[in-house]
Amino acid sequence: MMRRYKQSWQGYFQDKSVWVTGASSGIGAALVEALGAAGVRTLASARRTDRLEELERRHASVSALSLDLAECDLIGEVAARAWEQLGGIDILINNAGISQRSTFVEADPSTLERVIRVDLIGTMWLTHAVAARMKHRGSGHIVAVTSLAAMIPTPRRTAYAAAKAGLHGLFDAMRGELEPSGLSISLAAPGFVRTEISTHAVTETGAEHGVLDSNQEHGDDAASCAVEILVGVAKRRREFLVSMSPRLRIALLLRRHAPGLLWRILAKASVT
Ligand SMILES: NC(=O)c1ccc[n+]([C@@H]2O[C@H](COP(=O)([O-])OP(=O)(O)OC[C@H]3O[C@@H](n4cnc5c(N)ncnc54)[C@H](OP(=O)(O)O)[C@@H]3O)[C@@H](O)[C@H]2O)c1
Repeated sequence: MMRRYKQSWQGYFQDKSVWVTGASSGIGAALVEALGAAGVRTLASARRTDRLEELERRHASVSALSLDLAECDLIGEVAARAWEQLGGIDILINNAGISQRSTFVEADPSTLERVIRVDLIGTMWLTHAVAARMKHRGSGHIVAVTSLAAMIPTPRRTAYAAAKAGLHGLFDAMRGELEPSGLSISLAAPGFVRTEISTHAVTETGAEHGVLDSNQEHGDDAASCAVEILVGVAKRRREFLVSMSPRLRIALLLRRHAPGLLWRILAKASVT
């Protein structure tokens, strides 16, 4: 199955330049591994540059560029450097993100703001800088890795769900402006994936949660999730789900057909 998937995305990415954010771990690192193994020119960004340099060492077509999405004022400069370094960007994969492990009322508002700043505002600044250049050139593909939390917001994920739903609003609204100019827009929403997302999630005080939660521990592996994303992007799908379990599909059905029941179940569920 994996081999058929591989063949089906490589043709689209070959001869393109790809910028992947959140490339130092999890889904982003797996995306860069797959692209690097296929010889696709890829720029890998995040804050932990030691991990990016490791990817750079392993794949000749991969290079690293430091990026902090919380530093909105600097994002334009980094985007200009990325554009220059790659000689133009064909595909931007906005994958970087942090999650939340705290109730709304108990959380310091500054920690809620931090989640929204990185996941939504920083991603918007970056997308703005790259989309302007792509529009001028008349081609490009912009991707956002969102979350099932955008459709099924669970307790203790208020800011995270808001940021991810915000990405859906932002990117959907951009379509009407940018698709007529030759750009493609894709939203990939994962279910649960075994990564560091819960470990680095922010608690009430802004400290790291520091735990690999059960949903992540038993989730899909990052490499399979990355390939599903690459296949969806190669098919230029506008919005698609990845790493979905039967349980999550049932939750989606309830959201559509019996939302009252879903909210009651979620209110009783012990979400970490
Ligand atoms: N794992 C899941 O179950 C799951 C489910 C749904 C959606 N997602 C989404 O998938 C995406 C990838 O997450 P993951 O699961 O692979 O988690 P991960 O292993 O924690 O990776 C998150 C990436 O984002 C980067 N990042 C965090 N803060 C950043 C900042 N301020 N500036 C730039 N980069 C930053 C991290 O790099 P540095 O710390 O080095 O900067 C890291 O490379 C996220 O958008 C997440 O919301 C994950």
